[in-house]
Amino acid sequence: MALSPADPTSFSLPDQHVIKHIHLVWNVDFSRKIISGKAQLKVEKLNDTNKQLVLDVSLLTILNISLINGEVLNFKVDSEVKNIGSKLTIDLSESDHGCLDIIIQYESSPDATGLQWLDPLQTAGRKHPYMFSQFQPIHARSIVPCQDTPAVKFTYSAEVTASNEFTVLMSALRTGKKKSVDDTHNVFSFNQPVPIPAYLIAIAIGALESRELGPRSTIWAEKEIIDKSAWEFAETDKMLKIAEEVCGPYVWGIYDLLVLPPSFPYGGMENPCLTFVTPTVLAGDRSLADVVVHEITHSWTGNLVTNRNFEHFWLNEGFTVFIERKISSRLYGEALNDTRFRDFSTILGLEELRDAIFGHLGTENPLTNLIVDLKGLSPDDAFSTVPYEKGSTFLRYLENLLGGPEKFEPFLRHYLKTFAKKSIDTDDFKNLLLEYFKDNKALDEIQWDEWLKTPGMPLIIPKYDTTMVEACTELAKRWLSPDANYTTFNLSDYQTLTSMQQRQFLSELLKENVSLDMVKALQDVYKINSSNNSEIKFRWLRLCIKARWSDKIKDALQFANEQGRMKFVRPIYRDLYAWDEARSETLDNFNNHKSFMMYLTSHTIKKDLHLDN
Ligand code: BES
Ligand code: ZN
Repeated sequence: MALSPADPTSFSLPDQHVIKHIHLVWNVDFSRKIISGKAQLKVEKLNDTNKQLVLDVSLLTILNISLINGEVLNFKVDSEVKNIGSKLTIDLSESDHGCLDIIIQYESSPDATGLQWLDPLQTAGRKHPYMFSQFQPIHARSIVPCQDTPAVKFTYSAEVTASNEFTVLMSALRTGKKKSVDDTHNVFSFNQPVPIPAYLIAIAIGALESRELGPRSTIWAEKEIIDKSAWEFAETDKMLKIAEEVCGPYVWGIYDLLVLPPSFPYGGMENPCLTFVTPTVLAGDRSLADVVVHEITHSWTGNLVTNRNFEHFWLNEGFTVFIERKISSRLYGEALNDTRFRDFSTILGLEELRDAIFGHLGTENPLTNLIVDLKGLSPDDAFSTVPYEKGSTFLRYLENLLGGPEKFEPFLRHYLKTFAKKSIDTDDFKNLLLEYFKDNKALDEIQWDEWLKTPGMPLIIPKYDTTMVEACTELAKRWLSPDANYTTFNLSDYQTLTSMQQRQFLSELLKENVSLDMVKALQDVYKINSSNNSEIKFRWLRLCIKARWSDKIKDALQFANEQGRMKFVRPIYRDLYAWDEARSETLDNFNNHKSFMMYLTSHTIKKDLHLDN
């Protein structure tokens, strides 16, 4: 399994050199919104004839490059390529062979795409600024000069100096904190002894508090939300234990959580040793804590076994969703052969896939293939639910075909063990499966190319247990019936549904034409407006927009302003833009708020609003 140079989103040449370790010495400067310092790279030379090392950078100011013995190296930074960054070429001397230690002195740009710098007013405490990173898929290069391709894995260590109002956290083991000389700054040190791809380096700095969640888990957040956060995620250790039963031993030592400020663009991010989560999952009833199951699962699928490039992203996300649902259903006490909960969330995921494929993506869109072609594209633009839901449907199909969980789960553990600490592509998975199940007659039935390389919905959709979804469909049908009498509905019909079912009930309504009268009646009877559950609030606001309830434009914009999770913010903006009456207010709102968004969020919404030229 030779490292492939074939990553259309990176300049690096991993068949020539591979980074084995990076030591970072960083100074965090909030006034200039930059990180400055050095990256010391231990690089293994694989090919003696090559005299140049190629790295990925984006908007970095490179001050000096030398070998550890002080010998200065010449380098060249090519001009920026849109979405990809620049190629940094370093000349190596003739005599170098084996391992090289290269020291790069540099500064990041205030416009680095991988960081967000928050003013105190954008935090819960409103007193201290805050900074966090989001490097997946290809933003590590805006902070660390590196081979920014998941084909390369390295260990890392770091020493980070910051003003003593802050706690610094990274995706690594915390190895110490000491006061630095001037008494106003602290140095925090970290070590990540398991090799990881560059996109899993992560940092966050803020005025943070912590609570212990379990023997290997601490939760971090601003003090205003720390207790709420600790309560919401109290089951983390239980989740970890079930995950280990399914996947094998947890190798990362600690599993900490950081609850970020609301502008964090994702639901969660699986940074090793320190999952990042959005505060929008603090529902107050643990109903959205599943995001942690998802990120825990990435400790195996994604972080231990990693897609070789983002064309095979389904190996990260499809596997994670597939296994996440097994873990969640065990958490709810579901037996191996009782799949009500597992199938309910699978059906919901499939509905989202259907909406995306028949909606904004289109059934012929090559980005709806499981393996995508990223040439000329940014992986951020290729992001969708397809690798998640089409990927997990494929695995569910394979599980059913090859003998059910009893047969397939041991294979999963074999897969994880075989490819641990490696980066793989879909063929590696396919070959291992073909070998493992070689005596299974059903193997010949698998239409690999149709599953992997054709657009649209999954080739085969397994039969799922519909018990839990039926209650949602029935209630939606009653509301949608042409002769529905809205005065006959009771709050209890809605309250007896689980919050996942309530969310699905709203999704079912969203698929249909809804009248303003009906949506107003819904509000009167069910008081959905006051829900603390962001998933419910999101669907409710979309329903109001769909029914053209003008008073709700403000609420929808407020929802888009008070948190930055792209999954919520983008559809709200798209819906409002499509409504003539709301368009100009929506554009004004975006222009007033874009400076509070992370680069990627504003950049993506700009496209959604057709403002990109
Ligand atoms: N790794 C992803 C987030 C991500 C994907 C960041 C691609 C950047 C590029 C993370 O594990 C994820 O899938 N998050 C989901 C959580 C959900 C599926 C429970 C999210 O953010 O919505
Ligand atoms: Zn994920």
